[in-house]
Amino acid sequence: MYRRLTPLIAIALAISLAPAASAHQPVVLLDTDTTPSAGPLLVDGTISFAIRASFTKSGQKKAFRAALKEGDIFSVQYLIVDKKPESGLKNSLLPQLVITSPTGKKITVVMKERTPFFESFTRTTYLYLSRVSQPAEAGIYSFVITSRARAAITVAVGDREVQGEVVRGAVQAPTPTVKPTPAATQEPAKASPTPEVTTQSAYTMAKVKENNSAASCWSVISGNVYNLTQWINQHPGGPSAIASLCGVDGTASFNAQHRGEGKPTQRLSDYLLGALVK
Ligand code: HEM
Repeated sequence: MYRRLTPLIAIALAISLAPAASAHQPVVLLDTDTTPSAGPLLVDGTISFAIRASFTKSGQKKAFRAALKEGDIFSVQYLIVDKKPESGLKNSLLPQLVITSPTGKKITVVMKERTPFFESFTRTTYLYLSRVSQPAEAGIYSFVITSRARAAITVAVGDREVQGEVVRGAVQAPTPTVKPTPAATQEPAKASPTPEVTTQSAYTMAKVKENNSAASCWSVISGNVYNLTQWINQHPGGPSAIASLCGVDGTASFNAQHRGEGKPTQRLSDYLLGALVK
């Protein structure tokens, strides 16, 4: 029914339905994010993130984690883009999302709606399939998504529209004494395919210069520090364009190629470490 509306009416309707979820920061799950500990950690699960998981066939898994504190609200929504193949699939063929709370309680996300919502930043119509909102337990929630057909979903976590932090590898939750800006403590991951180590010290230019190779590639773009290591071999414009940014301020190169382009800007946000400290 929704698809038969003219685009303008559809957009107006969708905006009026759900304006609040418009600015979720995107995080794309990688093929190597097959378990919660291998996947990314949202350091503050109350900050709004849109986790994208796409699958080519049944039986694939992607996973991530989110840390919450006592007194927080745990807020999660399961969404698909209103286009095929996802929108044509029955609920039983859409990826299954199982969340495990810090005390081990399993939350299987039950799909009970298909409510359209227009996300104005990327001009995409999504459908809400399920929403969970409950008082949080303190600790790390694990999310495991298992596919049952070719499909992509978005899991929206949190609702605070401020810049959030995502880290990869084995992680301890940040201690209360740590200032919120730089990173959580990270130990090198034992089983993670993408171990990365960041420290609690600030993101200075000296630190960026230390990470000047394809093995550990940090770059500054518009005053923020990014860890581009994983992006080098995924970049559609070739690895050398990214490798040339390692250890230096890449603002001019990035802007020369991609200023004002949505996809590169969004992709970049997946690799944010934090603001450059002068
Ligand atoms: C961290 C920085 C960068 C990010 C996150 C990034 C991201 C992306 C993304 C997402 C695309 C695909 C765009 C699309 O499908 O519409 C792309 C394409 C491209 N990028 Fe970048 N890029 C970065 C830096 C650069 C730099 C510095 C250069 C050049 C020196 C460059 C050259 C290109 C080219 C030529 C393409 C088009 C490839 C094609 O269509 O075949 N990129 N980039």
